[in-house]
Order: sequence, then C-alpha cells, then structure tokens
Amino acid sequence: MSTPEILPKPQTALSQAVSVPNQSTPIPLPLEDLLGSEEHFSIREKFKLVHISDLHISFQHYREHIKSFRLLLRALEEDGFDHLLITGDITSTGIADDFFIVREILDRARLLSSHKLTVVPGNHDIFGGFHRAVDVLSFPEGIRSVDYDRNLNLFAEAFAEAFEGVYRPFEDAFYPFVKFVGPFAIIGLNSIGRWSSLKNLFGSNGSLDDRQFEGLRALETSGILKGHIPVIALHHHFNGTARDNAVGNNRWVRIEMQVMKLRKKKKLLRQFQRLGVKYVLHGHIHHNELYNLRGLQFANGGGAVYDDFVEFLKYNVVECADGECHLSIVTLPIPFQQRVTSVLGREKLRTMSSYLKNEVPIAGQIRDAISKPAVLL
Ligand SMILES: [Fe+2]
Repeated sequence: MSTPEILPKPQTALSQAVSVPNQSTPIPLPLEDLLGSEEHFSIREKFKLVHISDLHISFQHYREHIKSFRLLLRALEEDGFDHLLITGDITSTGIADDFFIVREILDRARLLSSHKLTVVPGNHDIFGGFHRAVDVLSFPEGIRSVDYDRNLNLFAEAFAEAFEGVYRPFEDAFYPFVKFVGPFAIIGLNSIGRWSSLKNLFGSNGSLDDRQFEGLRALETSGILKGHIPVIALHHHFNGTARDNAVGNNRWVRIEMQVMKLRKKKKLLRQFQRLGVKYVLHGHIHHNELYNLRGLQFANGGGAVYDDFVEFLKYNVVECADGECHLSIVTLPIPFQQRVTSVLGREKLRTMSSYLKNEVPIAGQIRDAISKPAVLL
C-alpha cells in the first residue's frame, strides 16, 4: 500500500487540540489518535476545506443554478480556499451534457485537478430525477431502465481529474477512495443504492455495498489514515428528523424522509468511529446544517444553491490554523438566482428570520444583508 504520489504528505506533528464549533458553541475535539506519526501537516500552516453539495445543474430544468454556481465559485475565489469538496447531486439529470457544463465551470475556475477538487456521486448523478409534476408519474417507470454501473462510470469519467492519485484499499473497487489534502484524509464513498421496486423505487434511498464496508475495514487495519484527520464524504444524510424540526412535520416531509433514507446507518457510524473520523460531510437534504452524532461532527451542504428556505448562496468550511480546525457554515450575501426576489413572501421572510436567530451561525455580512429588505424584495 502506498500513499498518493501527487499529494504532499504532511510534514510535522500536530500538537495542539482541534476544536470544532457547533452551531452555537465550540466543541473541542482531542487529537490523541492523530499524534505519534512521524509525518504530519504542519500546525503552522493554514488550510481551508470548503464543502458544497446538491448543485443540481441542469441546462434544461435549472438554468438559474448554473449562474448561482458560477457566483458561488467567484465568491469562494475571493474568500480563498485550498480544496473544494462536492458531495453529490452535482447535476440534476445525470446526463453527459450537464456534466460537461459543470466541467467547463470548474475548469475556468482552475479547480479541475485532484489537489483542488474531490467529488462523490449523488442519486441525481446516477438516476436523474423528476423535474416537473408530470414526471412524478413517469419517473418510477423510466428509472427501471437506468444502467447504474454505466452512469456511475460516466460520473467517474466526467470528473476523472479529481480522482487522480487517490488511494484505494482494493484495486477492483472504485469506492472507497482516500485523498490526502492538507491535514485531512478525505474518504470518498458511494452511498447511492441500486434501484429496487420495494426498497428504492425512486433511487433516492442510500446504501453502501458490502465491498465498501470491507474497504473501510481495510483502511482501519492498514493504518494509512494515521497522522491525518479522517473526513467522510458521501451524499446521504444521517439525521432523520432534522428537516422535520426545521420546516414543520407535515405529511410530504414524512413521505420524503421515507424515500431519502440511508440504510445501515448505525453500522456505518460504528465503522466511522473505529476509523477515528472527525467530520462527515454530506448533502441530499437541501439546506445547510451542522449536527453531532456519537461524537462525530456532521455538516450538510445541500443548501448551497438550491431549495433552501434561506435562499442565499452558502458553503461549509473546515478551517485549520494554529493547530485548530473549525467547522462552520458561511452564508454569502448573494441570493439564489431567479427565484429569490420574486418568490419570497412575508411568511418566508419570517421563517428565514427565525431560522437565522435560532439555529445557524451566520457570517456578519449576511446578517447585514438580511437586515436590509431591499436586498430581498
Ligand atoms: Fe439533491
């Protein structure tokens, strides 16, 4: 087993505690399991891992997302960052034309390389989805003919540069892969379950195949993660009730949660714990949120450009400096394109206002932006 050649191994030992702020209070995370290795990322170096998800790029259905994505990358470039992680539903359709659009945007932003970009697939990247009301009826029939393996390969080809030099525990399995960037070992998983008329009618439920569980166990015994902060990247979420709490426990939300769940979560969480995982970064539910489970820090990046009730561009960031890493949500003073200014009503503004007061740490500039109705209406 060898580490990737294209990515530099960390140089010196981490010797200070990492702390991870939750939505309200910082939570210190001990780093004992990261100490003792001879080669480490220098604690004096800064590193900024940015996480976004669920861009749902589609020329036909969501042209406004293309503009939002461009604006988000421009803002990120101005803010500065070291590595971008996108956790699936990069396209809404899974078709080559939309992957090509994403490639073009990433290429122009000079992000189409392994040391700048990591991606994992979402269910829309493999199965597409329904985008109009009438599609709800035809989609379950059409999804039967989707070639899962072909589309998974298409995703890998579309972002081939992002997979260069990654480490894989098994040569014959594309996932999991491990990429070493800065102080992190990003472990990429494919959580997209295969279609099933009983268990996965819409293709939106998640599961890991046995080979990926074997791969994670192999990572555990190999010791290759030692000296790095393990970060899981996958599409599906782990917090089944967060959306209910956030937007009301209505019937549609309950149905939605039934067809969007990740199977074998507990088994997966136990494996993450054995690997010493610190952060789990995902999407799937379209809002940004931080939460804790079993001592792990989770971040949902699904509200980056789409469908969130806080309709501003957002990203999650794990920022490391002076021996500490902090996870937070950054909300930019840039509305989602097209729909925000025309659709936002008083009720939505009230919901957004209470959301901002109670739940999410917001960067100073967005508080200013929210307090100025002219920005929104
Ligand atoms: Fe999505």
